[in-house]
Amino acid sequence: MAPVKRKTNIMAQSTYTSVVLAQRPKATIVPGETFTLKQNPILTEADLKDGQVLVETLYLSLDPAMRGWLNDARSYVPPVQIGELMRGFVIGKIVASKASSFSVGNYVTCSPGWTELSIQDAKAVTLLEVPPNGKVTDALGVLGGTGLTAYFGMKYIGEVKPGDFVVVSGAAGATGSVACQIAKIKGATVLGLAGSDEKVAWLKELGCDEALNYKDPEFREKFKAATKDLIDVFFDNVGGEILEAALSRAKPHARFVMCGAISQYNSATPVGPKNISMVIAMRIKMQGFIVFDYIKEYPEARKELAQWLAEGKLQRKETIIKGGLKAAEQGLADLYNGINTGKLLVEVKAEDAGVESRL
Ligand SMILES: NC(=O)c1ccc[n+]([C@@H]2O[C@H](COP(=O)([O-])OP(=O)(O)OC[C@H]3O[C@@H](n4cnc5c(N)ncnc54)[C@H](OP(=O)(O)O)[C@@H]3O)[C@@H](O)[C@H]2O)c1
Repeated sequence: MAPVKRKTNIMAQSTYTSVVLAQRPKATIVPGETFTLKQNPILTEADLKDGQVLVETLYLSLDPAMRGWLNDARSYVPPVQIGELMRGFVIGKIVASKASSFSVGNYVTCSPGWTELSIQDAKAVTLLEVPPNGKVTDALGVLGGTGLTAYFGMKYIGEVKPGDFVVVSGAAGATGSVACQIAKIKGATVLGLAGSDEKVAWLKELGCDEALNYKDPEFREKFKAATKDLIDVFFDNVGGEILEAALSRAKPHARFVMCGAISQYNSATPVGPKNISMVIAMRIKMQGFIVFDYIKEYPEARKELAQWLAEGKLQRKETIIKGGLKAAEQGLADLYNGINTGKLLVEVKAEDAGVESRL
């Protein structure tokens, strides 16, 4: 069904759009086949129970983990079912409220999925606060899930300290770019790995001591030279061949922060590193984690990230896809092709471009 053209006030419409899973992809997401748009009867204040709010989505976060949620396999969250609303985190605006803690016009974050409109229990919604030097969209980036992932991964698994030599893969992405900068703040020397010369140049602007394009035909030799002193901390967003290369350059007792393995998410036959025995030979501490593990510490972590942002110690970029929810499927497919520098978002509602000045 064709998407409805958005009017300024969503509740003046008769329907709103959401996106549901149509087919499980065998390998990469197939735009036009994997997901389908759905029209739903409009929701209004009359649909709310006490303690609930009506949230209009402004921005949708696109995350590599979404590909894993489409597999019918055991993981840290249940798979999205065929015909079910696609899961996702958003920044939204309260358009009706029967909860004393929220008023119409408040900006919030929540997890309603890929939908223009949703009813949320007030306890499932977080009021969005914009710190000095910050902006609304930071709530899904540097101060949201990806910034927090970088923070906890570096703090608790990387245990990064002054003088460490830290390598970050997927370094120009949302998580990686914050991970690189936290390592610098902590006094480490940092090598960032990314997929284009433009991204490499940005990593140097961020303060990385060295950055390499892993698509360079001479990457192997350059990586060997750049890691001649061997790696203390490897923050891995990518897995596959890059993880294998990092294992071969690990220092004894190196810490490997297993954050993600994006190179394998779309593969029908994922592969692990052939030299995994380096974990034994070098006594590597290799640990995976999910950011939700540290949920109780989010407020403290956000405070420190916001402080670094205010002080200009943290920089960030975002790539915002226009075109509303109908653009989300192609955007997610493109995430695995490196379309983004920094955080990838879909602008679901275009007319809120002035949102920053109203907070
Ligand atoms: N453990 C957790 O709780 C947690 C939370 C959030 C994210 N993560 C993980 O962290 C990683 C980064 O997530 P993000 O949200 O920050 O995404 P992101 O890094 O902003 O975007 C993904 C990037 O991955 C790179 N990439 C794609 N395919 C690749 C391949 N085959 N080899 C190497 N690089 C590839 C692309 O950049 P290039 O142009 O450089 O290739 C792309 O821009 C993902 O693996 C994600 O699953 C984990």
